Amino acid sequence: MKSSKKDIVKSNPSVGVDITKAPEPKLGNKPILGDRYTSKEFMKLEWERLWTKVWQVAGLEQQLEKPGDFFTFDFGPENILCVKGEDSNIRCFYNVCQHRGNQLVQIEEGNLESFSCAYHAWKFGLDGKLNWVPDEEDFVQGSPCGKRNLIEIKSEVWQGFIWFNLDPQCDSLKNYLEPVMTHLENYPISEMKRTHWVTVEEGNWNWKCVQDNFNESYHTPYVHPGLKYIADEKYYACQFDLYESMHCRMLMPGFIPSKSVYDEEDKVLESLGPHMEYWDMKPEDYKGKLLEIRGDIQKQKRDLAKNKGYDFAKFNDGQLTDHYHYTIFPNISFSVKPDGMQWLRGTPHPTDPTKCFFDYWYLTWFPENIKEYYSPMLSKMTDISVKAKNVRGKVGEIDVGAGIEEDVAIWQSQQKGLSSRGYIGDCMPAQENRIRFFHENIDRYLFGDSGGDA
Ligand code: FES
Ligand SMILES: [Fe+2]
Repeated sequence: MKSSKKDIVKSNPSVGVDITKAPEPKLGNKPILGDRYTSKEFMKLEWERLWTKVWQVAGLEQQLEKPGDFFTFDFGPENILCVKGEDSNIRCFYNVCQHRGNQLVQIEEGNLESFSCAYHAWKFGLDGKLNWVPDEEDFVQGSPCGKRNLIEIKSEVWQGFIWFNLDPQCDSLKNYLEPVMTHLENYPISEMKRTHWVTVEEGNWNWKCVQDNFNESYHTPYVHPGLKYIADEKYYACQFDLYESMHCRMLMPGFIPSKSVYDEEDKVLESLGPHMEYWDMKPEDYKGKLLEIRGDIQKQKRDLAKNKGYDFAKFNDGQLTDHYHYTIFPNISFSVKPDGMQWLRGTPHPTDPTKCFFDYWYLTWFPENIKEYYSPMLSKMTDISVKAKNVRGKVGEIDVGAGIEEDVAIWQSQQKGLSSRGYIGDCMPAQENRIRFFHENIDRYLFGDSGGDA
């Protein structure tokens, strides 16, 4: 039995996402040193030259259903207020009162007609306008009403995500995200419901450990021993795309075991079984035919799509089974299928480079009239009527979620090693090129095209 990159490219490429391999960028060989993960100086540069320039996600449009709905989002040393106005437009503001700087909104979410500061009661509208102050006649410089409004942050809603950029001069989100924006246009992401929402607070690792990790699959056989039964995870079976816009993609064939477990048939069938059964396939029919599962489930999904409430017409075969995994520069990664998206992100700690916040979301697309759905990525049934709460806590206090817990454990131990005098920089195989690309791109933001060598 043989599987290879051909599995990806032979899928019907005339429909669905462009699966052309991106040209390989020329990469350097500068060592990735530990101080990038520990130095306050480096962290400061990242804040000034990277985080305040790149597009970020504050939350989801589905968190703001009606006018007055709002939520706040911690982003490094800043706190961002997102609110749906009376005109139903979503706006993002620095959550700072313009009188004397008190943090205006102290809660994570809610619904209000206006925002009143707890200090001297200045009142701001949902559009950020300062509408009322006590003793208005006492301002010798003239009434601040309508003038000292909340400071708005550039934002855009796309595919149900609320994006913001702290740089008022920034490029459009479209220009920033391409080609990923085009790749995702047929996925019904804005219709997906968040069914899993976990935030690890103050994890003991730098945010780059998260993105490094999702920029390679070299670790998967050892950190996620279950993956080899459901995906052909070895690098020679995958396609890696490194785009000029600094984002990356990995295509990994799914519903096909890795070569190393071809002789563990029962385990493969047990692992793929629940999803096969959802699509009316009998795992036992595939004894001796493990490599036929992927093609057959693609066909079965097309044949049964209509009956089960799906429409896969705009997707190629690979999109129905494979792992389309993207890393969005600098700190977001996700795997997407027509019926769900696993979404992962590390954000910087306000003051400590050896800590970060980590979010894990799962977004589920529910077919019409379906209330419960088996999520293969979460290995459980998800229910549309149960709104996912933001489960927050430190490592060990909360259940992060299947698969990702294993990554979290690694980041903690990696951070310890990165702080050691005994770590003299990386030594990576070519399949980890996305990590080198990621760090070179950080350096472009921090030091310009010299990449820090000047
Ligand atoms: S600081 Fe907000 S009203 Fe004074
Ligand atoms: Fe992992």
